[in-house]
Amino acid sequence: MQNKKRSLTGDRPTGRLHIGHYFGSLQNRVKMQEDDSIERFVMIADVQALTDNFNNPQKVRDNVYQVLLDYLSVGIDPEKTTIFLQSMIPELAELTVYYSNLVTLARLERNPTVKTEIAQKRELFGESVTYGFLGYPVSQAADITAFEGELVPVGEDQLPLIEQCREIVRKFNSIYGETLKEPKAVLSSNKRIKGLDGNEKMGKSLGNAIYLSDSEEEITKKVMGALTDPGRIRKDDLGNPDVCMVAYYHELFSKDEIKTVCEECRAGKRGCVDCKKQLAKNIIEELRPIREKRKYYEERPELLEKILKDGTKKAQEIAKETMRKVKESMKLNYFEE
Ligand code: TRP
Ligand code: SF4
Repeated sequence: MQNKKRSLTGDRPTGRLHIGHYFGSLQNRVKMQEDDSIERFVMIADVQALTDNFNNPQKVRDNVYQVLLDYLSVGIDPEKTTIFLQSMIPELAELTVYYSNLVTLARLERNPTVKTEIAQKRELFGESVTYGFLGYPVSQAADITAFEGELVPVGEDQLPLIEQCREIVRKFNSIYGETLKEPKAVLSSNKRIKGLDGNEKMGKSLGNAIYLSDSEEEITKKVMGALTDPGRIRKDDLGNPDVCMVAYYHELFSKDEIKTVCEECRAGKRGCVDCKKQLAKNIIEELRPIREKRKYYEERPELLEKILKDGTKKAQEIAKETMRKVKESMKLNYFEE
């Protein structure tokens, strides 16, 4: 146990997870479960979700369970990965307060991820961003360090947050003495999946995503509306699969057929409607075990509750121990036996 490394990652529960998450991070997390040298933690970041959804607590609450179902349905196994809830670990809020002394406003305002997000959230924040949102990198540093998460598997967009965490750790250790572990980001090699409309990003607000929880009908409907080669009008027009999202998804879901798809498309021997139907069928088949597992857990709410409770309890014990060390280093170890 002692020389095991810990990994920590998480998601904001602001919506259900889609196939972009599946290929981007979830498959990686499942694969990592085979590595015995790592003790794995996955956090449902409801406190962070509130930083830009403070006016919508019901949405966050509902999505905590949706994200938990997404995790379990893709094969994140609670026996191998501790799944826990951020808001139930008060130590994280406590650490955030102490770390906030070690970060300047200017540094937070320069954080590229935060900067982009603020620009996207003008409607919510108006003229001036909240203290909580600007400070969420500090809270994320608390998440990571509380569990001595040395490895943080994330997407590229999270790198500035990990860097910010590393700076906080170095500053803490230089002022209060060597206490915290400096984390490292582990970038997934998987590429980002484009949306059905060809948009670089798949997202709820864009309406171009296939969710892991989508029904067969929903999948078919979405695939039928996907962007195809716009230059192709009749079936015998020569097509270009390189500009077609259906071909792009065939590449992900139809390994055996992709060559034929492209050849027939280029030769004008393939109808787009049939091509889409075939893709929808393949996606439905590939996601079938995920849907079935989801159904299993959906029917067992007590089991879901227990998984989250047990995971959170385990995480709490670790955070408590880190808190004890932090307070000792900061000379805040009052009233100790
Ligand atoms: N910021 C992450 C996201 O938006 C979620 C997150 C919160 C996280 N705390 C974390 C990720 C700690 C890794 C480690 O997806
Ligand atoms: Fe796309 Fe298939 Fe139509 Fe070719 S035949 S343009 S690959 S949907």
